[in-house]
Amino acid sequence: MYNLTKAMTSRASRRGVLRGGAALGIGSIGLGPLGSRLAAAQGEDALEIFSWWTSPGEAKALQALFDAFTAANPGVEVVNSTVSGGAGVNAKAVLQTRLQGGQPPDSWQTHIGRELTDLYVIPGNCEPITDLYQSEGWADVMPAGLVEQASWESEQYSIPVGVHRGNGFWYNKTVMADNGIEVGDTMSVDEFFAAADTLKAAGVPALAFSNNEGFQGPQTFENTLLGVAGPETYNALFLGETSWDDQGAREAAEIFARMLDYVNEDFSALAWSDAIALVIEGKAGFNSMGDWAYGEVLAKNAQENIGWVSHPGSTGSFVLVVDSFTLPVGAPHPENARNWLITLGSKEAQEAFNPLKGSIPARTDANRDLFTPYHQWSMDSFSNDALVPSAAHSQACSPAFQQAFYDATTAFVTDKDVDTYLAMLADAAAMDAEATA
Ligand code: GAL
Repeated sequence: MYNLTKAMTSRASRRGVLRGGAALGIGSIGLGPLGSRLAAAQGEDALEIFSWWTSPGEAKALQALFDAFTAANPGVEVVNSTVSGGAGVNAKAVLQTRLQGGQPPDSWQTHIGRELTDLYVIPGNCEPITDLYQSEGWADVMPAGLVEQASWESEQYSIPVGVHRGNGFWYNKTVMADNGIEVGDTMSVDEFFAAADTLKAAGVPALAFSNNEGFQGPQTFENTLLGVAGPETYNALFLGETSWDDQGAREAAEIFARMLDYVNEDFSALAWSDAIALVIEGKAGFNSMGDWAYGEVLAKNAQENIGWVSHPGSTGSFVLVVDSFTLPVGAPHPENARNWLITLGSKEAQEAFNPLKGSIPARTDANRDLFTPYHQWSMDSFSNDALVPSAAHSQACSPAFQQAFYDATTAFVTDKDVDTYLAMLADAAAMDAEATA
């Protein structure tokens, strides 16, 4: 695994990290319609699962997990608690309110890495599941780097269910053919701008973009940073080992600003699923997005007309966005919760979920033949490429840095002011360093 061990070692000294709740500004968000679902979830033999998986592709994949659980645990009522908003932008705030009110669900979705440890494990919201790792033999069938990122101080705290590749670049084949654009197996930054100029001249937004959830700008920037500066600089920047006045970071911000000259005008009103829909419907050329976008392509049966490459320049690297589930302290139905985690770690559930979600199994023993050519391509990238954790999804960085990254990028996508952007990221890194010293 690329540099994950190093990332973990430097994290081990970060006991005093900023608490995620404060970073998210929680406290002002009520439980709203969750109240009635909460009541249902208090039932005798229930299992309440909390996630942000509400788009067509996400919901279908989540249902496959529920079906696998129900097959093994008939009679348990599954309560599906979702709060929509990509990357958990709303769900994570609602969850904090519930945790602080002593009302955890039976399990919740989280990324391994800093999101898991800083938001939930260190504040004391999670029970270790090390015994399940042992009894189910998970460490034998999952890459050590993933297990490490699901761990804190030698105990495991969540079970990874799927591995998303964050640096996908999706395109509409008909739009390309109609405009005489040939896309090969890879795409350089220059090749992207050449294609973008052709599409612009034809009146087509080259890049479908959205930022109403606030994570899409950071995601597109981190992909650009990876493509321009490479995986080592990318990791060093998010680990706080290289400063944001780095030349590669500046170049990446300049290129990101140039890319923003080719986007649809209504991006600030759109969700991530709207942006991939523009590509599916032939209203835009490309979309930079993690492969949950491919889950939408599959849910809409559009795979014939959608192609992919790595985000320009990032061939040879794989941005990790790994979804996992936890065992809460004070879970209302702890036995059901443990059985849920056992289901998630199983080969069968991972083989049912990931083909629908766009991700690949965290287990390495899954049957490759059950997966689409895209998934097989991603599996090969996972085995061979440099693996770097995502900052937009708080796997690489603290929740406080993630929030600052979102705020700085939301300003940048409008003002395109490179100096201010890099200065804001430098300030956030400095605050992080101080908080963890
Ligand atoms: C990510 C998550 C994915 C996908 C995406 C959009 O944070 O890991 O599973 O759901 O958000 O909502």
